[in-house]
Amino acid sequence: MFEKESSTYTYLLADAVSKEAVLIDPVIEMVERDLALLRELGVNLKYVLDTHVHADHVTASGELRRRTGAKIGVSSAYDLACVDLHLNHGQELNIGNLRIQVLHTPGHTSGCLSYVIGDRIFTGDALLISGCGRTDFQGGSAERLYESIRTKIFTLPEAMMIFPGHDYKGLTHSTVGLERLHNPRLHDNVTREQFVELMGNLNLAYPKKIKEAVPANLACGLPDLFAPMDPQHLEGVPVVTAPEIRPRLGQILFIDVRGDDEFNGELGHIPTARLISLGEGFSERLAKESRDLETVFVCRSGKRSLEAARRAQELGFTRVYSLAGGMVHWNELNLPRVSDLGGS
Ligand SMILES: [Fe+2]
Repeated sequence: MFEKESSTYTYLLADAVSKEAVLIDPVIEMVERDLALLRELGVNLKYVLDTHVHADHVTASGELRRRTGAKIGVSSAYDLACVDLHLNHGQELNIGNLRIQVLHTPGHTSGCLSYVIGDRIFTGDALLISGCGRTDFQGGSAERLYESIRTKIFTLPEAMMIFPGHDYKGLTHSTVGLERLHNPRLHDNVTREQFVELMGNLNLAYPKKIKEAVPANLACGLPDLFAPMDPQHLEGVPVVTAPEIRPRLGQILFIDVRGDDEFNGELGHIPTARLISLGEGFSERLAKESRDLETVFVCRSGKRSLEAARRAQELGFTRVYSLAGGMVHWNELNLPRVSDLGGS
């Protein structure tokens, strides 16, 4: 899957039998797309793996963990507090019968990983199609990148397919054999000295988002939730999107868990929604609600509603969901709403 602004590729792989899935390099702005695809395919996200701490976009790893209970894997080289799996070279993970082999391929950054799954390698920004990642920040080193690519990627079978972290020309994949022959920076006849000189003279501007993206990514994309989270906490809380429930709006009990002021504020509320603000007395008030209907919790962006849905499950509600993207997404879709500030 592609994110246009940063030209980032995100990959979803799943095992058809066990229905376990892994996402590689998800982007925060595309989190609803990725969750919708997981639902559509009926697969469960087991791992979110970042190839590295990105400088050009914010990872969706923390948000995806919060919403699905998936575990986050990143290189141990960064030693990030927010990460569940501190991955090392040679380590293996499994999703069902699919084996994910971890390769440490530093050089673009100090902690870049590539992941080999079957006959494919996901190279992040170490090796791109006819190119490679820059080496001028985040512990980058042209010498190390040369070494990584030569000894860990170009030694793989020639037919192995390469799926990069970015492409700026619309290309989707290559092979080890093709890159060894045609990569202008790194084909088999380029020496280490030539490569180091070339990389030292690129004179690239810094990525637009670097100041925001790197600190956010050091916290798994959730700088306000830096503390490591209990991944089990929200596991099993189902999320629905507005388009999914649109055909049966009349049959759903909507419970809005925002504050009074937000309920009647700018974003408005769903016409049939009942207001039970998350906070003191929430569980007591919720316990009095009917359990006969499918219940969808709503908030501003879909965070508090997850917590509310989890609390409802504890109270024994069975058909509870959290509305993905909350009233923000609801409004983006121009679905019916009531607002005291005018507009409907
Ligand atoms: Fe990068």
